[in-house]
Amino acid sequence: MKLFVILFASLLFFACANEPKKVEPTNPNGDSELALLMRKMENHWKTAKKAVEEGRPVETPDFSSILSAKPTDGSMKMPSFDGFAEAYLAQIETLKETDKGTQKKSYNNIINACIVCHENSCSGPIPRIQKLLISQ
Ligand code: HEC
Repeated sequence: MKLFVILFASLLFFACANEPKKVEPTNPNGDSELALLMRKMENHWKTAKKAVEEGRPVETPDFSSILSAKPTDGSMKMPSFDGFAEAYLAQIETLKETDKGTQKKSYNNIINACIVCHENSCSGPIPRIQKLLISQ
């Protein structure tokens, strides 16, 4: 457990959120399109988590604007960004088709797709995203 804490602390050191802003934000309130979409997705899956835990049907909105939304800083969209984004969208498609028995697993696959991209882009929000995982 201790090792995990240390690992996280070192990951946080590289978090995008901790880097000084080099580019003017695209919105007057300082939030990029992509950051706003991320928060919207976080809120959506927070609600969906409850539904999955209670065995209710889950809404699967179209989050494909993740591919075009402008980031705070162009460098945040590393060359592999689109691939990770497609993988995330594909997991949402899988959840749509899944039945009750595999709903939890499919849901967690979506959250893991968030985490994988963050491990390769900005690791700051990872602890927040991990809270969305359902323990099985
Ligand atoms: C394809 C890569 C990718 C995927 C998939 C992804 N993210 Fe992100 N996320 C990013 C990048 C890049 C940023 C930085 C955006 C910016 O600051 O413009 C970010 C920012 C965030 C933030 C911080 C927003 C803020 O307030 O500044 C949160 C929270 C977040 N993501 C949660 C999630 C969650 C939850 C998921 C899955 C439902 C997810 N992300 C999926 C790449 C991704």
